[in-house]
Parts: sequence; C-alpha cells; structure tokens
Amino acid sequence: MPADLSALIKAGLRDVPDFPEEGVVFKDITPLLAEPSSLQAVVEGIAARYEQAEVDAVLGLEARGFILAAPVALALGAGFVPVRKAGKLPRETYRASYDLEYGSETVEMHADALSPGSRVVIVDDVLATGGTGRAAVELVDKAGGTVVGFSVLVELGFLQGRRRLTDVEPHALAVV
Ligand code: PRP
Repeated sequence: MPADLSALIKAGLRDVPDFPEEGVVFKDITPLLAEPSSLQAVVEGIAARYEQAEVDAVLGLEARGFILAAPVALALGAGFVPVRKAGKLPRETYRASYDLEYGSETVEMHADALSPGSRVVIVDDVLATGGTGRAAVELVDKAGGTVVGFSVLVELGFLQGRRRLTDVEPHALAVV
C-alpha cells in the first residue's frame, strides 16, 4: 500500500461543479478506478483494516459502492451483499429511507441476505450527508446483523455526515 494513500486518492478525484444539479460539486472517482495501482491500493487499504474482524459479509451501496465492496469482500473471504435503490431487488426486502445531499432515496436489502448475528462491514465510495450510510446501518439492524466497520473512499468533511452515524465510527481513506 502506498505511504500516502490519502494523497493518491485526492489526486485521482475530479471535482465536477453543478452535477447532478446546480450548487453540488460531484466527486468523480472514475480516474482513480481507471488506474490499476490506485484501485488495488484502495481495496487493500479498506480490507487491511478488517483482516482480524471475522467479517461474514460486506455490504456495498448502489451503485458506486458496489465497485469497491465486491473486491473488499473477496479480499476478506466474506460474502458480498448489495444494498439497492427501491424496486430493484426481486424478493422480500427490508427498507430504509433517508435524505440525500440532493433529493431523497429509499434503499433495500433482501430480508434473507444476512444471518442473524452476521458480522458486517459497510463500504461506499463517498460519505456526504451520511443519509445513505445511516440507512445501511438500519438495514443491518433490521436483519439482526452487527456492523463491525464502515469504510468509505472519501468523506466530505464539511457536510459532517458522520454526525448522523451515531452507532458506528466511519473510517475514510481520505477526507476533503
Ligand atoms: C452517492 C454516493 C453515496 C451517497 C453519499 O450515491 O455514492 O452512496 O451518495 O451521500 P450521503 O452521505 O449524503 O447519503 P448516489 O445516491 O449519488 O448514487 P450512485 O452511487 O448510484 O451514483
């Protein structure tokens, strides 16, 4: 893993002003994903934190969270569980709603995705207002799992999203 992973991540992000709507500065992670050494360093940087945590499942949050969560799950020998936006999962689900930086959203997870007592790590690309993360924690709670970790690639510190995550201490590889 590179000595300064945070600097590597910041160098790989692009700010896109007024996307998806005016006043929002979108963090485009695609340059980082396109660089194999950076992608590998990020996945290893998250997985390393949970090597001793006996993780059963890694939850990825649609859509950009999937990109990181699946390889982290493989690295930990854990399963991957998708948390999807409403209406995408075919079987019975648990649901949680939240306000987003732009708009509002409902997310779902299959009701049988986790066994009670499962040790779960939640992975996403960005922690902004914390709404998505909070909803994911709620889904794990509903399923009877235990959140043992919450990691993001980048945290938008000025939005103070971690304040909404009262039950977990989010870990961010970079804070902007
Ligand atoms: C973005 C991002 C996080 C979430 C963070 O997802 O990927 O999941 O917002 O925001 P929050 O902390 O304010 O909840 P988005 O809903 O834009 O979906 P996408 O990954 O499908 O583009």
